[in-house]
Amino acid sequence: MRRLFILSFFLFSLCCEEAMAQPDVEQRIEETIAQMTLHEKVQLLHAQGKFSSAGVQRLGIRELHHSDGPHGVRAEVDWNTWGTANWTNDSIVAFPSLTCLAATWNRDLSSLYGHAIGEAFAFRDKHIMLGPGVNIARMPLCGRNFEYMGEDPYLAGVMVVPYIREVQKLGVACCLKHFFLNNQEINRFGVNVHVSERALNEIYLPAFRSAVQQGGVWTVMGAYNKWLGTWCCENDSLLNGILKRQWGFDGAVVSDWGGVHSTLGAAFGGMDIEMGTNTDGKTIDRSHGFNSYYLADAFESLVRKGEISEKVLDDKVRRVLRTIFRTSMNPNRAIGKQCSPDHYEACLRIAEEGIVLMKNDKHLLPLGGNRYRHILVVGENATRSLTEGGGSSELKTKYDISPLDAIRDAFPNAKVDYAQGYYSGRPLYGKAQERLDESRQDALREEALSKATEAEVVIFVGGLNKNGFQDCEDSDRKEFALSFGQPELIKALATRNKNLVVVTFGGNPFDTLWSSSVPSFLHCWYLGSMSGRAIANLLTGETNPSGHLPITFARRLEDYPCFKGGERTYPGVDGEVYYDEDIFVGYRYFDTFGVASAFPFGHGLSYTTFAYGKPSVRVTEDAIDVDVPVTNTGKCGGKEVVQLYVGVAKEKSRDFAHARPLRELKAFDKVALKAGETKTVTLTLPKHALQVFSPDSHRWEMRQGKVRIYIGTQHIDVML
Ligand code: GLC
Repeated sequence: MRRLFILSFFLFSLCCEEAMAQPDVEQRIEETIAQMTLHEKVQLLHAQGKFSSAGVQRLGIRELHHSDGPHGVRAEVDWNTWGTANWTNDSIVAFPSLTCLAATWNRDLSSLYGHAIGEAFAFRDKHIMLGPGVNIARMPLCGRNFEYMGEDPYLAGVMVVPYIREVQKLGVACCLKHFFLNNQEINRFGVNVHVSERALNEIYLPAFRSAVQQGGVWTVMGAYNKWLGTWCCENDSLLNGILKRQWGFDGAVVSDWGGVHSTLGAAFGGMDIEMGTNTDGKTIDRSHGFNSYYLADAFESLVRKGEISEKVLDDKVRRVLRTIFRTSMNPNRAIGKQCSPDHYEACLRIAEEGIVLMKNDKHLLPLGGNRYRHILVVGENATRSLTEGGGSSELKTKYDISPLDAIRDAFPNAKVDYAQGYYSGRPLYGKAQERLDESRQDALREEALSKATEAEVVIFVGGLNKNGFQDCEDSDRKEFALSFGQPELIKALATRNKNLVVVTFGGNPFDTLWSSSVPSFLHCWYLGSMSGRAIANLLTGETNPSGHLPITFARRLEDYPCFKGGERTYPGVDGEVYYDEDIFVGYRYFDTFGVASAFPFGHGLSYTTFAYGKPSVRVTEDAIDVDVPVTNTGKCGGKEVVQLYVGVAKEKSRDFAHARPLRELKAFDKVALKAGETKTVTLTLPKHALQVFSPDSHRWEMRQGKVRIYIGTQHIDVML
């Protein structure tokens, strides 16, 4: 008894000590705000530099340093311009793209990612990481889908939460973006999105809501586009109504850079920190112009005149101070690390588990370490760094191993030859695709084809890249096919060598018609600093692939529902775009309306095989538990993603506004199994996950009657 008392007292005093060490944030806010002048309050609400917003020097309140993410710490930018500061101490680890993280379907890797990248931001003394992004991949040409987490709101919502929690444990704020409906780059600064209430609630809001309510994200970035005819950065219904009142968000809303357009809009529309307004473009072009921001002098004078109540101002100030006390003035803020071995290890693990084995017909893969003596590697992406370019998520890496170098390391006893095969030009961010020299392209192709016949195996490394009009901010792709003559080259290589492995990069689906002539195909997203090592480990079989698609690869671009309404549904007419497909985004459309895809959402092969036993269901008060026996029936260890979908037995209605999807992802788990091993995976379906948003009653309602639960190729019907 005595020992128990001592222990509990020790624990109690420890908690008190902890509390003493970290004065209550809310108390600090009130004490600080009571001492601030009106001008000092207003200063907190807008930029003082390209990536910094002010504190209160007189009171010792630190400023905030913002920096892009979400895949690593962006190289230092000039204080007042977009130019790089050309520092020599800011080379970093590039982590895989968030689409790659989603493709791991592994919550633990999301935690690992958040911890590592949070340490990197802390070490670079950045307080707000501008990411993660969870916009839904509605349209497969969107230049920024590589920064997001796929087409399914449940997968995105589950996979973003651990990342946010781990980053913020270190005293660095995530900045969830781009809130919301930023699903295309064409006319991103002005497009007004029309979408049904049901699609809002079932598709476009859930991942953001999970990040706020389960992830506890500390800041949210307003998107450039409009909703209901109002800028998202000045949208009372969105920022005050949904985000702050409905969801209980207690942090600060940050504008996208230049996303604020008026003082009253920002004041009453829920904006807290105005960033990136182009002072050069305003009527008053002062040397730095930060006082001419909409939430600067103009706002201050309206408050002084009593036209805007100080209550409106103080709510913003509280949110910004809360962010400061959670980050730049958090006594427990981590020191962090930069380019540490464990960050590279995290990068490698996430990359390996995100790569999707799309096809492996003749079990050409794994190649093993010593079976081949002459390997030909073809493709520009085998040597090109894909961490540069792409827009604001661009990174300057200290180390970045290419696929070609890593393949040479992995096959030390083989002659590994290389042919570029094609070239893409170097028009990075926002510049039009340069005209390519056809004769140069032909020569590169001929060189690759002539070498292909001599090699025992050919590894083609291509796909998309970070050029403008590929996977790049501020532009959408103009074609579904791979560019630069790749499809023709791949098909020609297949005629020269039957042992052809195709490895593609890219954050979006593309035309894969050529894959019918290719025995093995790996898709890699963007893998960061350890790209080459991850690919080589899967090619040799050192690591067994376990990635699964977070997006649908359709057979044809026009099969995606967002193209069914002509320009009205993408990219919009006169700045107005209509999401007429309602909730039928991605696999929800393909499955329900019977449109075959090339590679479906959730697809991913392994070097081993898995078999599912008969699932059993346990219905409790507030959940349905489904037990699924899974056996590794192959010869090597591997990881399987057990996916649970909920739906209807058969959807007869063709009415987008009222039909229900055949199936929707509602639970999943990733399980590691040795050869021959069986484990029972339990997937829990909380009853609230069975609700649907009614377009008639305008609220969430519990499904009635029979619900079909799909697991793998099996399904079970449950009466509710
Ligand atoms: C951009 C992007 C946003 C980025 C910001 C700062 O225009 O839309 O994602 O964080 O500016 O670079």
